[in-house]
Amino acid sequence: MTIKAVPGRYAGRAALVTGGGSGLGEAICRRLAEEGARVAVLDLQAAAAQRVANEIRQAGGEAFPFVADVTDFNALDRVLAEVLETLGRLDLAVNNAGIGSPFMPVAEHSLDNWNRVIGVNLSGVFHSMKAELPHMTGEGGAIVNIASITALVGVAGIAPYVAAKHGVLGLTKAAALEYGKSGIRVTAVCPTFVRTPLTTAELKDEAQWQALDAMHALGHCAAPEDVAAMVAFLGSEDGRMLTGCAYPVDGGITTP
Ligand SMILES: NC(=O)c1ccc[n+]([C@@H]2O[C@H](COP(=O)([O-])OP(=O)(O)OC[C@H]3O[C@@H](n4cnc5c(N)ncnc54)[C@H](O)[C@@H]3O)[C@@H](O)[C@H]2O)c1
Repeated sequence: MTIKAVPGRYAGRAALVTGGGSGLGEAICRRLAEEGARVAVLDLQAAAAQRVANEIRQAGGEAFPFVADVTDFNALDRVLAEVLETLGRLDLAVNNAGIGSPFMPVAEHSLDNWNRVIGVNLSGVFHSMKAELPHMTGEGGAIVNIASITALVGVAGIAPYVAAKHGVLGLTKAAALEYGKSGIRVTAVCPTFVRTPLTTAELKDEAQWQALDAMHALGHCAAPEDVAAMVAFLGSEDGRMLTGCAYPVDGGITTP
């Protein structure tokens, strides 16, 4: 047996990460760049996208910042054309941009809450896929949508978020069936709780995190890098037989 040093799984490949300026998206951008991808860091927040792209470049990777709001299809579509001009190709799109939901029972959620959360977390993923798919070559192309454990189980108090994430799984399955024979795989990742600006805005108390840790078979919540590792696997040649499915990264919290 000969063991050869192999180039990164993403050598020569190009990836786009929405919501790449913070939290899980930032970790995904870093991981893909470490594995050799040229990465488009797309975010609503220009400074955040710029910071992540700069830090990746300073570390020796290739990354480019882009600004777009995933709720605005026409603007996003225009930025996708710029992404393609910069990267030259699009092998992997990670639809990660998302927001949290205020905590209250269904009947108390305002229409604004509902429309805002569905707008970013579900319509935003649809807009992203609609803009990305025409640019994907089908030569090992992949889309990875960031859903949540709340796409797999109900959680009281955040119905707009739960509904949006269940919807992301529906989009993932339908697109997987439609584009598989064109060589494009579509999967979803379902992370458990991770400390990011999205969650720490609501979960401010250390005791709340300790209670959440204890709910996992592994005894702790996930790190952004755990999610990034799954995304890098699914989007790579290693995941070539995987499409139309959701992959929990959840330390056993949803294990029946
Ligand atoms: N943190 C968790 O515990 C957790 C668990 C499961 C799933 N998720 C999902 O992971 C994804 C990332 O969450 P996070 O925790 O890293 O959050 P985060 O707040 O740290 O990062 C989200 C990023 O998305 C960007 N964004 C928000 N709205 C946008 C829009 N309309 N257009 C473009 N960019 C936009 C933000 O500017 C931010 O940089 C979300 O889809 C979230 O639902 C998070």
